[in-house]
Amino acid sequence: MTRTLYKLAAHLAALMPFAYYLAGAYWQWLGADPQEQILHGMGIWSFYFLLLSLAITPLRRWLGWHGLIHYRRMLGLYFAFYLLLHILVYLWLYLGWRWGEFGSELVKRPYLTLGIAAALLTLPLVATSTQWAQRKLKRRWKQLHKSVYLIVLLAWVHYFWQVKSDLNEPLLYLMIVFALLGYRFWTKFHQKAAGLNKKSPL
Ligand code: HEM
Repeated sequence: MTRTLYKLAAHLAALMPFAYYLAGAYWQWLGADPQEQILHGMGIWSFYFLLLSLAITPLRRWLGWHGLIHYRRMLGLYFAFYLLLHILVYLWLYLGWRWGEFGSELVKRPYLTLGIAAALLTLPLVATSTQWAQRKLKRRWKQLHKSVYLIVLLAWVHYFWQVKSDLNEPLLYLMIVFALLGYRFWTKFHQKAAGLNKKSPL
């Protein structure tokens, strides 16, 4: 019961940015360029959810709150949800569904190509996000979901590349990305070393 309430609260919190931009577009309080605000808002929230989903494992260990694992899939799916909105806003409000222009933009702006690569890599993760898929794929599921590390790096470069002025924010996120990836490699390295020590007769 408590977990259901926590989950409900988490869903409500995760949908707040969406509600904020929806209300802002409706009541027109998003400033002089609402399209840009919405595009950037969806992009940055997509990135935040990606970071949050990656932070679950270390946080779970540090805080000793093992129940946090139940939120990882949810955060990953909100990453994909905001990413989808980010892409739709771009294609609809910026390009008016002009696919030819989209093709030439991709060639002209490499940061878009990297964004598309990250989005395409996200698709199989969403498709296999169910517990059924996890059970069916077993070890291969883990292997497949490792591509999230590549996704976060591509997403970061996509973000960094298009920033025009203040670099502090993307650089702060880069440090967070490195801390999260560093943690993964460090724990893997220690697990391997512990395994070797067990096998060694010395
Ligand atoms: C994992 C994938 C992606 C993530 C995490 C992401 C995130 C972001 C972020 C954080 C920004 C900057 C927001 C800001 O400056 O406040 C951004 C900008 C942008 N993104 Fe993405 N994005 C992704 C993929 C894509 C894709 C696939 C497209 C196009 C189809 C796209 C189109 C854009 C555009 C047009 C901008 C704004 C550029 C500008 O203002 O000049 N993004 N994105």
